[in-house]
Amino acid sequence: MATINKAKLMDGRAVAKRVLEGTAAKVDRIRSATGVTPCLATVLVGDDPSSVTYTRMKRKRCLDLGMKPVRVELPEGTTTDELVTEIERLASDDSVHGILVQHPVPKPIDKRAAFEAIPMEKDVDGVTSRTLGRVILGMPAFIPCTPAGIMRLLEEYHVELDGAHAVVIGRSPILGRPMASMLINAQATVTLCHSRSRGLPTIVRHADVVIAAVGKPRFVQGGWINVGAVVIDAGYNEGIIGDVDFDGAIEPASLITPVPGGVGPMTIAMLMDHTAYAAAAQLGVEV
Ligand SMILES: NC(=O)c1ccc[n+]([C@@H]2O[C@H](COP(=O)([O-])OP(=O)(O)OC[C@H]3O[C@@H](n4cnc5c(N)ncnc54)[C@H](OP(=O)(O)O)[C@@H]3O)[C@@H](O)[C@H]2O)c1
Repeated sequence: MATINKAKLMDGRAVAKRVLEGTAAKVDRIRSATGVTPCLATVLVGDDPSSVTYTRMKRKRCLDLGMKPVRVELPEGTTTDELVTEIERLASDDSVHGILVQHPVPKPIDKRAAFEAIPMEKDVDGVTSRTLGRVILGMPAFIPCTPAGIMRLLEEYHVELDGAHAVVIGRSPILGRPMASMLINAQATVTLCHSRSRGLPTIVRHADVVIAAVGKPRFVQGGWINVGAVVIDAGYNEGIIGDVDFDGAIEPASLITPVPGGVGPMTIAMLMDHTAYAAAAQLGVEV
């Protein structure tokens, strides 16, 4: 076990706490201006234990902030049409301001069709193609919560992105792709890697900023990390293990996110904040 140099840790819990203080203030302003409580609907299909836990955590966090959670649970075996109908119902319900469809959804469901049923103004998790298009173009949108949280962490720790070489490992529509776009928009030079990339260790060795979003425990080795690089571990694998070999990477890194306590708390904080913003926009309140 490496000695942990606390000065190198990017404390996602502390930054998330600050984000959530701002969210609570927005919720108060919305309620005093309109009498309406911001509301997030969480939609869960099936009973995958991790997904059950994640949706429960999100509802609890809503309650902690004075927001209203609406719980929609559909059985395993729900069809794409049934799920889309449920999302459309929430979309036309004025008392619901944000809609989160917990993923992964069970295999037979057309996930894309389900996501696209969410209207952009309620897409607080940033999953629709319209949102992704806006993120790529740097237009206002509810940025997918994990990359949004990572950007906020990079800002809070004054990480210089202009002209930096950022390597993003993973190209999923909710994480790697929007992350790469946001880094490009922040003037970084970005290399986006995936499972077919050749010579990954060499590419990572040239990075000033490494974002690991792979879904494989301790995949990124300490020996791949350039001295002084900033290492962001978005991974959250079974056993609460990140995608980076933390013990190996902390030595060369200048800053690194721990798992847990790094990117995870930021993701949920951004979801809450987006929901408050969505409610404000729908109710015509300045926050
Ligand atoms: N902290 C949070 O709140 C939060 C939120 C969301 C996700 N996560 C975590 O972030 C990680 C990624 O999530 P995701 O939803 O983006 O996963 P995903 O959809 O499974 O995407 C994983 C990406 O990693 C790439 N990859 C897989 N094996 C690779 C290899 N050997 N070399 C290089 N790239 C490889 C895949 O490449 P291909 O495209 O070529 O298949 C894919 O683009 C997971 O650990 C997940 O639990 C955390």
